[in-house]
Amino acid sequence: MVEHVPFTEIYVDDDVVDRTESVVRSRRYVQGPELDQFEAEFADEFEVEHAAGVSSGTAALSLAFRACGVGRGDDVLLPAHTFFATASSAMNLGANPVFVDVDPETYTIDVDDLARKADRADDPAAVVPVHIYGQPADMDAVQAIADDHDMAVVEDACQAHGARYDGEMVGSIGDVGCFSFYPSKNMTVGGDGGMVVTDDDDIDAAVRRLRNQGRTPNGDHVDLGLNYRLDEFKAAFGREHLSHVTEWGRMRRENAHRYDERLADVAAVETPTVRDDRTHVYHLYEIQADDRDELRSFLSDRGVETGIHYPQALHQHPAVRRRDDDLPTLPTVERLVDRIVSLPMHPWLTEAETAHVCDAIEAFYRGESP
Ligand SMILES: Cc1ncc(COP(=O)(O)O)c(C=O)c1O
Repeated sequence: MVEHVPFTEIYVDDDVVDRTESVVRSRRYVQGPELDQFEAEFADEFEVEHAAGVSSGTAALSLAFRACGVGRGDDVLLPAHTFFATASSAMNLGANPVFVDVDPETYTIDVDDLARKADRADDPAAVVPVHIYGQPADMDAVQAIADDHDMAVVEDACQAHGARYDGEMVGSIGDVGCFSFYPSKNMTVGGDGGMVVTDDDDIDAAVRRLRNQGRTPNGDHVDLGLNYRLDEFKAAFGREHLSHVTEWGRMRRENAHRYDERLADVAAVETPTVRDDRTHVYHLYEIQADDRDELRSFLSDRGVETGIHYPQALHQHPAVRRRDDDLPTLPTVERLVDRIVSLPMHPWLTEAETAHVCDAIEAFYRGESP
């Protein structure tokens, strides 16, 4: 079976084991030297002033919103093609999600629809460009619209470790960037974890307080924070993965190019479009496919596992619909959710495996039986 998000392929070598074992022996399990080092190395690798480790990507988003002053009644503009946490992290603070359609080729936020929705919003406080599947959103246009409306730019880079927009690392472009280390991501900490990155000293200080019960370094509790800390085991694990993540992004791109070349002539399939000014890190390799569900079942019979990550647009989920009777119509995202499918993607896919996947796709559209 060629798996599509293979947890069995998560990289664990002797260095990972030795480093986490050394944490056990150190008897220092939270807020210790591994976290300090992980944060410093992450900031260095991702070309940003500050990095603060937190307990998940969802926690990262929630703390980033709070640090930017987003709260009850504020409008947060975000694409409707993303993971639920992009919206729920804002909604849990009492903010209103304003759902924006996506670009039909890159699947990132549609900046024309964003401009329209920002003009119409009552109290636009933040916009969330999501670098979905590992491709950067159109950051210049997003930033220009944010500037016009005095909105914070909170980048959701949870799927885009090491992706670049016009040479700049995603996460470092807006006011604040959020990463997830959930085990299926391009790098993990061996469990849940996240990182908030920023060049802004005040945002960084607020995130550090809020992740630790609103506590300042001198021990005063000045905000109502929570416990969103990242522990030493995970920081130690994450340091090892961080040292490989750029190389793994390159390996993912090589695999993607093999798919691109082989599938270019399959008329029923649309491979990912990558804009010239963007470096994609292919957290997932998505195609649009005619007869998608039949294709998936054919591929499964031929030993190829595929995935559908977002079977519904975000604004169609019950938890969102309950809050808002007047839901928008978002034609692109509503069409995409019926056509998109994830092919197997990880750094160690072999040429034989990508060839097997493409052979099977071609066989399906030739009308062969499984
Ligand atoms: C786009 C996006 N945003 C937010 C999250 C939330 O991250 P986590 O699962 O680490 O809380 C994820 C990860 O699943 C994601 O893919």
